Amino acid sequence: MNRHIVYLFLGLVLGALRSSNGGISSRYSRSNDISADMPLNSDVFAVPPGYNAPQQVHITQGDHEGRGVIVSWVTPNEPGSSKVTYWAENTQLKKHAVGKFVTYKYYNYSSPYIHHCTIKNLKYNTKYFYELGTGNATRQFWFTTPPEVGPDVPYTFGLIGDLGQTFDSNRTLTHYESNPAKGQAVLFVGDLSYADAYPLHDNNRWDSWGRFVERSVAYQPWIWSAGNHEIDFLPEYGEGEPFKPYTHRYYVPYEASGSTSPLWYSIKRASAYIIVMSSYSAYGMYTPQYKWLMNELPKVNRTETPWLIVVMHCPLYSSYVHHYMEGETMRVMYEQYFVQYKVDVVFSGHVHAYERTDRVSNIAYNIENGLCNPKYDGSAPVYITVGDGGNQEGLLYEMVDPQPKYSAFREPSYGHATFEIKNRTTAYYAWHRNQDGYSVEADSFWFHNLYWTSTSDSSAASF
Ligand SMILES: [Fe+2]
Repeated sequence: MNRHIVYLFLGLVLGALRSSNGGISSRYSRSNDISADMPLNSDVFAVPPGYNAPQQVHITQGDHEGRGVIVSWVTPNEPGSSKVTYWAENTQLKKHAVGKFVTYKYYNYSSPYIHHCTIKNLKYNTKYFYELGTGNATRQFWFTTPPEVGPDVPYTFGLIGDLGQTFDSNRTLTHYESNPAKGQAVLFVGDLSYADAYPLHDNNRWDSWGRFVERSVAYQPWIWSAGNHEIDFLPEYGEGEPFKPYTHRYYVPYEASGSTSPLWYSIKRASAYIIVMSSYSAYGMYTPQYKWLMNELPKVNRTETPWLIVVMHCPLYSSYVHHYMEGETMRVMYEQYFVQYKVDVVFSGHVHAYERTDRVSNIAYNIENGLCNPKYDGSAPVYITVGDGGNQEGLLYEMVDPQPKYSAFREPSYGHATFEIKNRTTAYYAWHRNQDGYSVEADSFWFHNLYWTSTSDSSAASF
């Protein structure tokens, strides 16, 4: 093709994508349907065969370093066994761990038996099989432990948020499972089942969601964070204990990081240090979450875990109209520390769309100096919103116009992302929209580690 025609074509494409001030507001065209939840008789919600068969199986990291796994599942008819039988691939020696079960009531709903069993002292980088249940209702799964914590260990995280249980949710999960980048664990950025969309927060939708995602989370850990749809606060019906269904169903290893609440905690995994925060718990000065984080950040040893990642449901930077500035109080409180400790990236959800910022901070402002514009900051995190899992509330299309300078790329489409750590200096990030082929990257970004790399990454270009 004639070179000038190519340049003309590229110019037209870039012109269509780029707004006058900020980065890219994608003009990708998509259907405007709000997706309904899948009916309860959908195959993705099928109850496994056999009396009292374990269902809703899910695993997450069970200690601070990655040698532990918490296995959780539900038995519907009677408590049954809380035992996990497990063995390393190519070995005959079967081991057992015994957990416990809990139940809870939510207004007129009584939960099934929710089992949690922590397996500890596993070998790193090893495939394990595990079995739950008894007799002909025994079910077998497997997982692979992460490599030993170390500075140059490659590892790939998937990123999924605000998933829900619609047909779009199913597309997102399928897309993640089929992505050739092969996420080894998911950082889940909050808002799981959307059961609270139903009258009296019908907790049967917590059960159906557990069955829906089992096909992934029984085989690789999802690292949980809580969103606003986990609050389940219904005091007029006697349900005044926030996060009750979530905290009974989703155990996390919070005590291993000195936390006093499952809503904020940390783990090390491969070359990453993951800090999970709670947007909907008290976080002001002197609160337990604040005290824990102030104690936690200085502990992070970037020589051991170069990649410092924060997960919190509500984004600190988002240029969509819906939920605009909801994260502002938390930004005022914590952004200064994210810059001070060179957090590489903050992953959030909540806004049902996709957005990636440049490296920006807005910490110079006090109430008198007027310095209140976000500016490029080579020590600041990139903020990424992946609230685009596909829940029944639909996508958010309305954007702040013109696109603010801090916003590098934004698009209201369903999808997921992957964060692929190569070594201590470099990680490759990509966002995948559901409508594309599995290997297509609708947005991507090379991360240069803030602690180990002195050269700024490409995000400086637009400032
Ligand atoms: Fe949310």
